[in-house]
Amino acid sequence: MLLRNLVDFEDLTRAEWEALYESCSRIIERPSDFIDTCRGKVACNLFYEPSTRTNFSFQAAMLRLGGSVFGFADPNSSSVAKGETLKDTVKMVSGYSDVIVIRSPREGAAKAAALYSNVPVINAGDGGHMHPTQTMTDLTTITRLRGSVDGLSIGLCGDLKNGRTVHSLIKALAKFEGIKFYLISPRELSVPEYIRIFMKENRQWNVEVTNLDAVMPQLDVLYMTRIQRERFTDPLEYERNRGVYILTKRKLERAKERLLVMHPLPRVDEIAPDVDDDPRAVYFQQAQFGMYIRMALLADLANQEKKAPAPVPMGGHRRCGNPSCITKDEWYLPPLTKRIGEVDYCAYCDKAVGERAEQ
Ligand code: CP
Repeated sequence: MLLRNLVDFEDLTRAEWEALYESCSRIIERPSDFIDTCRGKVACNLFYEPSTRTNFSFQAAMLRLGGSVFGFADPNSSSVAKGETLKDTVKMVSGYSDVIVIRSPREGAAKAAALYSNVPVINAGDGGHMHPTQTMTDLTTITRLRGSVDGLSIGLCGDLKNGRTVHSLIKALAKFEGIKFYLISPRELSVPEYIRIFMKENRQWNVEVTNLDAVMPQLDVLYMTRIQRERFTDPLEYERNRGVYILTKRKLERAKERLLVMHPLPRVDEIAPDVDDDPRAVYFQQAQFGMYIRMALLADLANQEKKAPAPVPMGGHRRCGNPSCITKDEWYLPPLTKRIGEVDYCAYCDKAVGERAEQ
């Protein structure tokens, strides 16, 4: 694979994705063939934000490939607490490791880290923006359990504004054919503008609705998400929306027999425990597939040659209006924008530059 970093699923072609999926399938079928694939390699996990699945599955993946892992799950236990910048942290640990896995509450953090790293950087979730290895987990689950992703009707339900797994999945599915999206959310938690523009540019069929029950019979996949309390600046907005969708066994009576009920997890209350024993509920299997696809990814990226990054010009980033953008803290980052139509977008967080992000 030519991939150097995994910041966004857009970094991959469909052919590269399919090669990675094939590698994942070989690992699932004969894991003992891969126990030395990363022997002598070291991953550094920089988790600036809580995680169970992503952190542990990356650790388990590296250990199962014969490699080792170090890092932090709490930035307050590192020199980040003394004010060390992301740039300096990354420059340091890229001298100690063969691959960096980073999660941050700041949108665009992985993109920024990749600018300064000698080793591949993997985005393990950046704020409410993207989570490409969760998307790999999701695509692996659908492909393993349904044979193909093309042509499916997919309901994305919950907090579509702040849910990074939803944004990543929508972008990735532009590489597939005949997908229909049912975007199920309260109006104030609908997908952000840059995702709406992306869907339009890529001619992705979609309909936005507020009622889950009304579309249930149409769905091949129901992808539930939690209301992301930690992303709300207004606690009242969270209170208005919490508990708005709760999937129960009774609600599934109108669903297809072969529906897949998926969830990136953690869940709060949006899937009742009585759904767990329904054969259509695959979210725990999904989390396990996440470890295997991360094994395939690490097998490739951790074995690449170290390479010094190109010199990065200094700071002066035109102030991005998104209060969660990485450029808000890391002032030295170079100005990176991309133009779509008449509008400039921040290349770190994808929000329109010069405008306050919708909250
Ligand atoms: N799905 C997911 O990202 O879970 P964690 O936050 O526990 O890593």
